[in-house]
Amino acid sequence: MRVLVIGSGGREHALCWKLGQEAEVLCAPGNAGIAETCDVEKVAPEDSAAVVELAKRSEVDLVVIGPEGPLIAGLADELRSAGIAAFGPGRDGAVLEGSKAFSKRMMIEAGVPTAEYGDFTDVDDAIAFAAKMFDRGKSVAVKASGAALGKGVAICHTLEEARAALQATMVDRVFGAAGETVVVEECLYGKEFSLLTLVSGDSSWSLPVAQDYKRAFNGDRGPNTGGMGAYSPVEWLSNGLLHETEERVVAPMLAAMKKRGIDFRGVLYSGLMVSDGKPFCLEYNVRFGDPETQTILRRLGSGFAEALRAVAAGEPVPEVEVLPEAAITVVMASEGYPGKYPKGKKLLVPSELPGEVVVFHAGTSLLMHDVVTSGGRVLGVSATGGDIESARATAYRAVEDIQFAGRQYRTDIGA
Ligand code: AMP
Ligand code: GLY
Repeated sequence: MRVLVIGSGGREHALCWKLGQEAEVLCAPGNAGIAETCDVEKVAPEDSAAVVELAKRSEVDLVVIGPEGPLIAGLADELRSAGIAAFGPGRDGAVLEGSKAFSKRMMIEAGVPTAEYGDFTDVDDAIAFAAKMFDRGKSVAVKASGAALGKGVAICHTLEEARAALQATMVDRVFGAAGETVVVEECLYGKEFSLLTLVSGDSSWSLPVAQDYKRAFNGDRGPNTGGMGAYSPVEWLSNGLLHETEERVVAPMLAAMKKRGIDFRGVLYSGLMVSDGKPFCLEYNVRFGDPETQTILRRLGSGFAEALRAVAAGEPVPEVEVLPEAAITVVMASEGYPGKYPKGKKLLVPSELPGEVVVFHAGTSLLMHDVVTSGGRVLGVSATGGDIESARATAYRAVEDIQFAGRQYRTDIGA
């Protein structure tokens, strides 16, 4: 099987690494680490005509679309119209991530447990709604409705904070057009986990659960990021709660999509919070999580490439082998991320690392013969072990040996 992976982040490096065990892999545009794993082509994911042309020219059997941007823009539809099998939903399914306002409406329609909310295009209406929430003794989450690379959410504990977040999102447009509409919702408290489900129409199969760390700094402080680390399995999550999540969050959304005639072929990522012992859906994404993927794929045995092929073909989802090991990923970021950060810092990665360690590249590129930083999240250092504790110790030993100027990482992933 020949597979083309679209994207250039840590998630795509993990996809290329895993698929490469079972298929011939090509990636566009990739990054410096991906270029060491497989062939790369300089084609932009946003240029759908060029992606279709590349898929045809390379005679691939399958295209796996990594990031949400091209999915929301309809790349999967373009590929399918050209007769090319694609893993990833079309525009109609991707709107579940492309519009948080739409997604919340779908959740309510499907009866999925989620935080009470309102959606707004007028900043004064949004402030009035937030004020009512505070009057009732609640805090709020202010969310840009459009896709904002995981950074468009602000948790606000006072009305002043909410006002500032609404001003920044809706008026100053710090997230661009993504902030045209906002969702203001009740702030929930509890532990979070990510459930990634392979979906092919009616058929579905969930990958092992992972927990992601969204905040920039230790102890869940600082601004939201795309994700600073992850681990799997999530031992505090009982089988009962997982089952309840499948029944109350995943299944009703699949049914709601079917009712709307959406033939979803890809991965449905449910972002969940356990509050008062019940799973609440914070969001759906329509792609693999980052850095959950760098973690979860380390725990898979054989059958992953075949599962993605089957999903793209609209066939029932076959199960993938799950290994008993635990896995953890620590993200190494550039100084300043998720705000402004420098680029072009030279990376020094030891050539000899333990066999349990895989270093997935995210924001890296080649400059002459050097690998240099080119993004906010630079590397995802993943390790496996008999349990989280040993995987964690191995991952952090490797992290300490990897150098670049201004490197920044959390030291409490999996602790
Ligand atoms: P989202 O992109 O909607 O998943 O939000 C990103 C992150 O913001 C989540 O992973 C949570 O950590 C936090 N968050 C989102 N919505 C809420 C909420 N209603 N209550 C508390 N935290 C939230
Ligand atoms: N790690 C969070 C996400 O991929 O959206």
